[in-house]
Amino acid sequence: MEERNSGTILNEKSFLVTVLLPQRPTGGVNILGDTGEEPLDELRGLAEAAGTVVVGEMVQRRAAIEPSTYIGSGKVLELKGMLEKTEADVVIFDNDLAPGQTRNLEKELNVKVLDRTELILDIFASRAQTKEARLAVELAQLEYSLPRLKRMWTHLSRQKKGVGLRGPGETQLETDRRLAQKRIADLKAELTIVQQRKEREVKSRSQTRTVSLVGYTNAGKSTLLNALTGSDVYVKDQLFATLDTRTRRWTLPGWGPILLSDTVGFVRNLPHHLVASFRATLEEARCADLLLHVADGSNPMVMFQIQAAYEVLEHLGIEEKDTILVINKIDAFKSMDENGELPTQYNLQALLNRYPNAMGISARTGEGLPELAQAVSDMLSRHFPTVEIEMSITNGKLAAYLANHGEVFSRQYRDDGTVVIRCRIAGSFLGKIRNEEMKMTLIDGELPVFEEEY
Ligand code: GTP
Repeated sequence: MEERNSGTILNEKSFLVTVLLPQRPTGGVNILGDTGEEPLDELRGLAEAAGTVVVGEMVQRRAAIEPSTYIGSGKVLELKGMLEKTEADVVIFDNDLAPGQTRNLEKELNVKVLDRTELILDIFASRAQTKEARLAVELAQLEYSLPRLKRMWTHLSRQKKGVGLRGPGETQLETDRRLAQKRIADLKAELTIVQQRKEREVKSRSQTRTVSLVGYTNAGKSTLLNALTGSDVYVKDQLFATLDTRTRRWTLPGWGPILLSDTVGFVRNLPHHLVASFRATLEEARCADLLLHVADGSNPMVMFQIQAAYEVLEHLGIEEKDTILVINKIDAFKSMDENGELPTQYNLQALLNRYPNAMGISARTGEGLPELAQAVSDMLSRHFPTVEIEMSITNGKLAAYLANHGEVFSRQYRDDGTVVIRCRIAGSFLGKIRNEEMKMTLIDGELPVFEEEY
């Protein structure tokens, strides 16, 4: 079952189609603030990531879709002609198709038809490396293909025929559906176990601060993880190289060791089945103290990609988390600039001006990395101030509270029966102990504003 979709369209010739409906934005906003002249840019990137060779493209503007075939009947004929001319093996729609539409199109066109979600699922399936990722992708694929069973599960009917799996009076389709539902239930159970283990793991590290890399696929997150932590993580010039979270130790100057984790790359409208299946992987980002949102500054679609990644964060409910926007690949940007390869008005400064708090870096050359490390250290210090707390030695409860919720650096016992504890602790925890009998001195960072009580 696992081989079913992995690499299904690898090396095939693909023909891309998009239908622009009035309410649907086109390719997004590019750096020049245009609404995007190239509606198929993203799909082309995805189709290439899936290993296909793009042999043609068609864009149709319509006031409404044609219910049976999505595009109009005249366009179907036109497309058929183009497919014959280009010898395409597969048509990929940028839109999501209903199961019936896919079936009708396949019948008319005589080639395989995929929609955007299936394409993304296909890419994820071929990249999944660990058991967790494979389970997650298989679940997402099954849930997506259940209503499309007639088409997708013919292989299963072949495999299982005659093994006595069919119940009395069941058609083959009913059997397939039952098997798929059983498999979905099994996968969900397995993933729940993985998820619980992950939550325990993340919780057990609560004493160590964590920073999570998020961002559009191919932005350079894995490369940045390597550059910052000196580790060797799988990096490839392919979208979605990262399907499993990788967490590494990163020693921050002026702070000490923290954990830096990589997450799965985002795309526009990441299929929601996938987001759900990758919950365990995204748990890292949800629990992180700080996010580094990495964007590919050398890509003309960078603003669109930042927006797309932001929408995924919103979907995960973590858009409010402290975030540093990191504009990566400024080396590529500069060399394109020098070679006159950039569109007019498109320059690094204009990009950075649009995002005044962003930091320009190159994970490849290391430019800007010391500044980035400093910014992370400063941001963490602001939220986790270092304080000295002087209190009576007899106040064991307070001493234990500090040890449980913060990092204690030293304890100094004095002859007058007091102890001075130096520790780093979240501002919110300090708020909870402000009425205790003690004296607090700020050593580093910022103290939270305590609300007055009346
Ligand atoms: P996903 O796993 O798909 O989310 O990708 P990612 O964001 O982890 O990107 P990755 O680190 O795999 O890098 C993608 C491509 O960009 C690779 O070919 C990298 O070599 C290249 N790249 C990363 N950082 C830089 C950079 O600073 N400059 C240049 N020129 N290329 C870079």
